[in-house]
Amino acid sequence: MRTKYTLFLFFIELVVHFSISNSGKVPAIIVFGDSSVDSGNNNFIPTIAKSNFEPYGRDFPNGNPTGRFSNGRIPSDFISEAFGLKSIVPAYLDPSYDIYDFATGVCFASAGTGYDNATSNVADVIPLWKEVEFYKDYQKKLRACLGDEKANEIVKEALYLVSIGTNDFLENYYTLPDRRAQFTTVQKYEDFLIGLAENFLRKIYDLGARKISLTGLPPMGCLPLERALNIMDLHGCVDEYNDVALEFNAKLGRLVTKLNKKLPGFQLVDANGYNILLQIVTQPSHFGFEVETVGCCGTGRFEMGYLCNAKSPYTCTNANKYVFWDAFHPSQRTSQIISSYLIEKYLVKFL
Ligand SMILES: *[C@@H]1O[C@H](CO)[C@@H](O)[C@H](O)[C@H]1NC(C)=O
Repeated sequence: MRTKYTLFLFFIELVVHFSISNSGKVPAIIVFGDSSVDSGNNNFIPTIAKSNFEPYGRDFPNGNPTGRFSNGRIPSDFISEAFGLKSIVPAYLDPSYDIYDFATGVCFASAGTGYDNATSNVADVIPLWKEVEFYKDYQKKLRACLGDEKANEIVKEALYLVSIGTNDFLENYYTLPDRRAQFTTVQKYEDFLIGLAENFLRKIYDLGARKISLTGLPPMGCLPLERALNIMDLHGCVDEYNDVALEFNAKLGRLVTKLNKKLPGFQLVDANGYNILLQIVTQPSHFGFEVETVGCCGTGRFEMGYLCNAKSPYTCTNANKYVFWDAFHPSQRTSQIISSYLIEKYLVKFL
């Protein structure tokens, strides 16, 4: 397995080199989603779902807590870099960037959001429909500054990364009573979300997006917070949540097949990260990790957002040994491994 991992790293190098020498095919990375890919939009809205303070970002260039829910970079950053673009994807609401910066990469994602409006209401974050409104606004500015032809080319040739859905289940359906009362089985709620996912994908297709990487749910029962609550099962992964993730991902996969058939020129890719993360969590040492059950920050069992701060006791010294950075989010090293896997398996055709 060690050898396999070394080979894997070698492949990453190849991908990076190949892409730099052949850059130009994908002119921009455009990101929609939740905290898995939010690069700091929540810093600029009134919400408690924030992470722009230490120790977040301590392994980011200059140790900057940017609002990424990580000790360093997140998957969208690694994917952007592998495509020969910026090594970080800037947040659309960050006033220190302008439309010329956003022309090669922009992030509309918002930590805590979901497909469901009711999910984004929980922590007053940006609902998915509003991310699309920001995207429309972005297109307008691109056209005004670069001209129609160049702007249209960016819109059409960009790679769109969509990573969202975990909060709909963990923050909303399984935590609050309303949706559970309305959708009496989780399967019915899954179908409701699939309908919202379809509307969203059709919407960005109509706005000109073509190359899209859609990432489904991780093995969310293995997130440290969910393990911590799983007292009955000795803090193992919550099988029920993992089963829901698999079921939902299968439905997303069928949606991808359907939309690719129906919408001419659509190149929607089902970039599923479930298996690689489950593999890391199941065999952490094969990937060079030492701890998979708790996050690095604080006790690692419940801290995220404001609860993970400079005063949290017990925060680990080397996050590279941890699969998870806080109780809900992967460490930078995990994000890098997942990104390389997604590129190799699903996105290489866009390189
Ligand atoms: C979500 O909210 C927006 C804005 O109010 C609305 O246009 C949209 O229809 C809502 N979506 C659903 C599924 O209720």
